[in-house]
Amino acid sequence: MNDKIKQLVRPNIIKMDGYKSARDEYTDNQGTFLDANESPYGINNRYPDPYQNSLKAELSVLKSVNPNQIFIGNGSDEIIDLLFRVFCTPMQDKCIAFSPGYGMYKVSASIQDIEYIDVKLTNSFQIDKAALEPFFEYQNIKIIFICSPNNPTGNIIDHEDIEWILKTFKGIVVIDEAYIDFTESDSWITKMKKYDRLVILQTMSKAWGLAGARVGMAYTHPAIVTLLNKVKPPYNVSTLNQKAALQAINNSRVADIQMKAIITERKRIYKALNHIESIKRVYPSESNFILIEVDDANALYHTLIKQKIIVRNQSNKIKGCLRLSIGTPEENEQLLDALRNTNTQPIPFSEYGLTNNPDLINRH
Ligand SMILES: Cc1ncc(COP(=O)(O)O)c(C=O)c1O
Repeated sequence: MNDKIKQLVRPNIIKMDGYKSARDEYTDNQGTFLDANESPYGINNRYPDPYQNSLKAELSVLKSVNPNQIFIGNGSDEIIDLLFRVFCTPMQDKCIAFSPGYGMYKVSASIQDIEYIDVKLTNSFQIDKAALEPFFEYQNIKIIFICSPNNPTGNIIDHEDIEWILKTFKGIVVIDEAYIDFTESDSWITKMKKYDRLVILQTMSKAWGLAGARVGMAYTHPAIVTLLNKVKPPYNVSTLNQKAALQAINNSRVADIQMKAIITERKRIYKALNHIESIKRVYPSESNFILIEVDDANALYHTLIKQKIIVRNQSNKIKGCLRLSIGTPEENEQLLDALRNTNTQPIPFSEYGLTNNPDLINRH
């Protein structure tokens, strides 16, 4: 194994033997199978392919990577958890992530008793290099999570800053691209050749419309794929879920149309939200959601709930903010109507102003 990667792995994971399933021991798919204590009856009686080879073959064409650079998890949340299990020794190692950001990095770190270092993003939700750099001197920081486009803010993280992290930080750099299909920015997959310690997470839960199927992907160095395989439950992605993912890829025109519809709606809603006076700020988004700031996010959240419109209250992460997922045009109209008709006090026109960032419409 590549030494730079090996020295980052938990020593017990290097030493242990992974589980050998029946399908590891006999890999041909022809024969009379009496080796896995399956039922001989039924349509889903056989265990799934533990390495999801058909799905990886399709993904490898789609993403122009080798199948041995792909790991598939039961959602990308499973992969986040597995990365901690592979690289971080409980009560010893640490990880870094940015806030506001996706909550599961911290939860998975806590489950494994890994110290979680939270570095605040700047006011424009970019990486604060001066705040981050001192941590590179710390011992035992194994993983940095970067979410781009970021959830819940919706923006892309500057490529130069990520490149700087990849060059400066010696641990594993995870770039979570759950929302990459909604932006015109390039995926970091193209940089995999250059950086061995890079892990790119993508998912079929968003643009592919398969949140219910639980299929997430890591694109990374083959040695990291091998380590993830060693630690994962043997049959982590069900046959039904593998089939659902394959079907979606074979029918990718549908996902493409839906993805474009979501982007078109996002642009329309962004403009419409900017005309609602009670909304103080609408953050530009390259994702399938939009973050808004209002005077009283809790009150608005509950007003919407009363109308059975459920958005995500982010005010505990970012003051006054709600995150609105882009729905169908009808759902979005329902939301916009409700927002237009709330009783929140309008801000006097004379108080409108622009922030330093011309992209952000600030109505303080
Ligand atoms: C940034 C980010 N990463 C990962 C996930 C989890 O995705 P999955 O459904 O593949 O587990 C989400 C889900 O909302 C997310 O927002």
